[in-house]
Amino acid sequence: MGLRTILKGGDPALRKPSRDVTNFDKRLHILLDDLAETLEHAKGAGLAAPQVGVLRRVCFINIEEPIELCNPRIVSREGEQEGAEGCLSVPGKTGIVKRPDKVVVEAQDRYGKRFTVEGEGFLARAFCHEIDHLDGVLYTDIMERFMTMEEIAELDKT
Ligand code: CO
Repeated sequence: MGLRTILKGGDPALRKPSRDVTNFDKRLHILLDDLAETLEHAKGAGLAAPQVGVLRRVCFINIEEPIELCNPRIVSREGEQEGAEGCLSVPGKTGIVKRPDKVVVEAQDRYGKRFTVEGEGFLARAFCHEIDHLDGVLYTDIMERFMTMEEIAELDKT
């Protein structure tokens, strides 16, 4: 299929809980490939299936390396970080969001094989953000506040 349309803000699909993946089939592989392609095109760090209108517990993160997650669950959280967070479904905005500093995630790969992955700092933030999408939660629901234009400009310098 290729590039998919990223749903924005008030779209009802972004607010619904996604269903577990049960078939690790060709259709899932196409979805994962499309998420990767769409994310690369949008120059983002992560994308969840509901953001392209597919209510399945699937997301793709590309920070240090590409990670495909099916049925991901956070099994441990440690510490706290407060920092800038954005979302391709909330374009042009950045919020300040508190997240755990370190998380451990259990998930399945595209063939159904279980694995555990650990994330710290920005990667931990991305895991939390993408998994929230699978429950119909946007960062704007839990943020402290939006950042001002001045704060964002300051952030871009670093
Ligand atoms: Co997002």
